[in-house]
Amino acid sequence: MMFALSPLAIVAVPVALETVKATRHDTVEREANNEAAAEAERMAKGRKPRASGAPASPQVSRANKADIRAILGASGSGKTTYVMQQLREDKPDRLLIWDTKGEFSQEGYAAPVRSISELVAAVRKSEKWKLALIPYGSPNERRKLFDMFAALAFAAGRCTVVAEEISGVAVGGKINAPGWQDIINRGRTYGLTVYALSQRPALMDKETLGNASLIRCGRPAWKADAKIMADCLFVGSDELLSLQDLEFVQRQKGLTLRGVVHPE
Ligand SMILES: Nc1ncnc2c1ncn2[C@@H]1O[C@H](COP(=O)(O)OP(=O)(O)OP(=O)(O)O)[C@@H](O)[C@H]1O
Ligand SMILES: [Mg+2]
Repeated sequence: MMFALSPLAIVAVPVALETVKATRHDTVEREANNEAAAEAERMAKGRKPRASGAPASPQVSRANKADIRAILGASGSGKTTYVMQQLREDKPDRLLIWDTKGEFSQEGYAAPVRSISELVAAVRKSEKWKLALIPYGSPNERRKLFDMFAALAFAAGRCTVVAEEISGVAVGGKINAPGWQDIINRGRTYGLTVYALSQRPALMDKETLGNASLIRCGRPAWKADAKIMADCLFVGSDELLSLQDLEFVQRQKGLTLRGVVHPE
């Protein structure tokens, strides 16, 4: 049973990593990944972390509100701008970003981190962190890296997670990453706020879209995308096709909201 394993059912991670080519860099990474999995598991079990000042165990509560935000729209439609606006407003003190383009680190929202071992070390070091992992490696390696990134976020608990362009780690509209599935299915209980971004709904993980407590759509790239999003948002696809960059339609708790995002 999934729950019998720790929330970090990343025992799969070291196994998955066996396929990574055994170059020197990969060996270092593999060790770091094993270490990441072990540490994440410790934290998930609520044990005292190894280093002093390390993060608290996840704050489990059914009273926590679901906060999974699916942000869709063509390139340049305003997805990143919206998330940055929210971060400026909410000022989360625990923030982990899957920063595919390095924009969040470049613009000072989080400190750039270039390996999973660096990420684990930083999370372990203190209770508060704002970290942006810049993905690296082949598409396959990135998918594994994303799984570990998500698993670490889930284990740490009570934090804001931003995942840029998650279609990049999905295959056929599905993210096969237990770490991400934990976030999506059980993140609410662990006090996570999640922003999942994608240019195209057809390429986005269906489970993420299906579990979103807020769905926001900017200018779609294709008629087909507008159709999917129109169904999600209970509006006509013509309205979505007429959106300009930075304009959006959003649905949350049964209410539809229309507006414009303002860059800083
Ligand atoms: N600081 C800024 N000042 C003025 N315009 C901006 C600023 N930041 C972004 N924009 C504009 O806002 C629009 C939305 O940009 P944004 O980066 O949010 O798009 P996006 O949906 O994240 O695209 P992508 O999928 O390519 O990442 C673009 O037209 C961009 O040029
Ligand atoms: Mg963007």
